Amino acid sequence: MSTVELKGIEKSFGTNKVINKFDIKIEHGEFIVLVGPSGCGKSTLLRMISGLESVDVGEIFLDEKLINNLIPSKREIAMVFQSYALYPHMNVYENMSFGLKTEKLDKKEIDKKVLAAAKTLQIEDLLDRKPRQLSGGQRQRVAIGRAITRNPKLFLFDEPLSNLDAALRSEMRVEISKLHKKLNTNMIYVTHDQVEAMTLADKIVILNKGIMEQYGTPDEIYNNPNNIFVAEFIGSPKMNILKIPKEKIKNGNTINIFNNDTQFNGYKFVDDIYLGIRPEHIIADNSEEIKVKIKADLIENLGFEKIIYTSIDGSEFRIKTSKNIENNISQISFSKDNVYFFDKEKIRIKKS
Ligand SMILES: Nc1ncnc2c1ncn2[C@@H]1O[C@H](COP(=O)(O)OP(=O)(O)O)[C@@H](O)[C@H]1O
Ligand SMILES: [Mg+2]
Repeated sequence: MSTVELKGIEKSFGTNKVINKFDIKIEHGEFIVLVGPSGCGKSTLLRMISGLESVDVGEIFLDEKLINNLIPSKREIAMVFQSYALYPHMNVYENMSFGLKTEKLDKKEIDKKVLAAAKTLQIEDLLDRKPRQLSGGQRQRVAIGRAITRNPKLFLFDEPLSNLDAALRSEMRVEISKLHKKLNTNMIYVTHDQVEAMTLADKIVILNKGIMEQYGTPDEIYNNPNNIFVAEFIGSPKMNILKIPKEKIKNGNTINIFNNDTQFNGYKFVDDIYLGIRPEHIIADNSEEIKVKIKADLIENLGFEKIIYTSIDGSEFRIKTSKNIENNISQISFSKDNVYFFDKEKIRIKKS
């Protein structure tokens, strides 16, 4: 087992600073998911860890050993790419054994490792096939199998499921989770998909423009987002945000919301703020204390649940409910216990 540590990592391409002062310490066996919008620097960070990209400033440690200057093949790290990166002219066995052959392992040892990995991933029957004779999900399994045979100290996954359809994605998600439990090796998994982040991670890193916005367990990130960026990124549909101008705030903690005064004990607001409420915390009746009547612009029916889209004070508002809505009109309400507040700079204001 191993630990991974990144200290003060910085990276620029020309004048474009892509990663800024990135620090992280990953404990034995942890599954870390790096999530953020496209272009925020996720792949660059992984490529620096694997050695495919150089580091401008900072240090990378694997098991307390500095690895910045090691070539990729000496790092004991295996990477799985979105594109699978299989050799088209080689069959599955050859693809999975290629790395081991170049390491000059003997035939028996290679056989053992490839068969063990194939068994783990249930692709033993596919060893003779060429990549073009495989489905997307099978190809991704082969790519993962190739990584397993290297017996690495650290697995890096760069959006490995993005090319698969929704059903296969959720199936492979479960497989990867099981694989992690079985191997108990550190994994760093990059995705832009918050569902993958929430379901796979021991800990999530939220990355935004090369900066770590938050690092914590899925529950911490969902329940205690540091700022609006994190609050909106995790959760689906995303958290509703209403701007509250300071004119609507009285005595520091009473806010006029939907033409009613509501007091929030433990807060002292001084300027404009943002109020956040998750769609799943809104009820399609008037049983909670903060109430308003809405007209749906659109209702998405997901079977068990519906997502109601409406607009409140010019902001789009989303409500998740299992109730039936008559004539697109509904009374909605939510509890003040489920409300989040953010300051003018979009940083969370915590209750004292
Ligand atoms: N080799 C490169 N040369 C110049 N710019 C690059 C290079 N690789 C990535 N970038 C830029 O760095 C930023 C981060 O890219 P990337 O790490 O691929 O983001 P992500 O994986 O989060 O989508 C982007 O603006 C991208 O255009
Ligand atoms: Mg990427």
